[in-house]
Parts: sequence; C-alpha cells; structure tokens
Amino acid sequence: MTGSSLPAAYFDGIFASDEDPWNLASSEYEAAKFAHTHDVLSDRRYVHALEVGCAHGVLTSHLARLCDQLLAIDISTNALAKAHERIGDRPGVALARMAFPKEAPDDQPFDLIVLSEVAYYWDLVDLDCASEWLRNKVRSGGRVILVHYTGKTDYPHSGDDAVEILWSALDASFEIEQTERRDTYRLDLWKRR
Ligand SMILES: C[S@@+](CC[C@H](N)C(=O)[O-])C[C@H]1O[C@@H](n2cnc3c(N)ncnc32)[C@H](O)[C@@H]1O
Repeated sequence: MTGSSLPAAYFDGIFASDEDPWNLASSEYEAAKFAHTHDVLSDRRYVHALEVGCAHGVLTSHLARLCDQLLAIDISTNALAKAHERIGDRPGVALARMAFPKEAPDDQPFDLIVLSEVAYYWDLVDLDCASEWLRNKVRSGGRVILVHYTGKTDYPHSGDDAVEILWSALDASFEIEQTERRDTYRLDLWKRR
C-alpha cells in the first residue's frame, strides 16, 4: 500500500469506540510479544527513553520497569486519556500528545527509542523524517527497538517495508544487534554507532 500517514482522527475514532483496541490489554499474543520486547531490552537500564505510539499504555507499563525516565507519546488524545488512567502518576513516566516525527522531543538525546507497531502508519516523508530524527537524537551506544506485524496491512506500508526503509536510511549510523522473526511479527534491535 501507499498513501499518506494515518492522521490523529483515525486513531481518535478507534479509541472512542473500543475500550481495548487491538486487544493490547487482553490478548495472550500481545502479552507474550510485550514480554519478548521487555526481555530483549532487559540486559541494561535506560536513562532517557522514548516510546512512540504508546496507545493506552500497556507496553508502557513493561518499559517503565527498565527506564529511569520514560516519555511515552501518542498522536491520539483519546489514547492518552486511557494511558493516563492506566499509568497514573507513576514516577519516571511522562505522557504527551505528539504526532511523530513531525512533532518530536527536541531536547536531550535518548538511549532507547521504542517503535512498536507504529512505523507502518507512516508515509515515505515521515519515515525519512523519522530516520533523520533517530540519527540526531539517539546517543552513541543507544538503542532503537522495532516490533512490527509482518502480515498484510491496509496502511501506507507493511511492517517489513517500513523497517527496511528506516534501515536503509540508518545503516551507516547504526548496527544491528538482533533481528528475529516470529510467526506474525519481527523484532529488530539497532545500536547507534
Ligand atoms: C497498534 S497501536 C500500538 C501500541 C503499542 N506501541 C504496542 O506495540 O502495543 C499504534 C499506536 O500508535 C499511535 N500512533 C500512530 N501514528 C502515530 C504518530 N505519527 N505519532 C504518535 N503516535 C502514533 C496510535 O494512536 C496508536 O495508539
């Protein structure tokens, strides 16, 4: 598929009509995927981490255990309202509405960026912009983890295409620490040179 990045209204609509979109809080499959993500990352702690597309905060809760400061962002106001209910005032976790990468944190460098089930929503302009932001904002030795469904999508890209487009823009700046394919998703872990 091609087309423009999916807008906030699309995701606001999903969160307005469904208490648990994509069954993130209720499916065993998602729980196992989140545990996998957590396990891959758990060999170190992260001082400043960013989760892009936090939805209602289910993966956020797993990530928070590994991070001193975690900024979790989402394009959808409705998603963030639900994330606030789940996360509350948990120390070290901040939630913010941002349409990444056009809106992105501009201050400190990060030592972890989490792109889980989100990059296939972006068009080529946004994938290019995301690559540039990652190149500039991930500190040396810092990581990017990408977890994406590998089946067919109705989005601007498939999971495989989105990951490969990002990688082709970043391969001079990052090295691959891990690439793993499970039945229906892929997990990629990159380290900033
Ligand atoms: C399928 S959910 C994935 C949630 C979580 N990352 C996970 O792996 O379970 C995708 C989330 O990304 C958000 N999202 C989509 N495009 C975004 C963008 N450009 N910037 C920030 N969040 C975005 C959506 O609102 C939605 O909450």
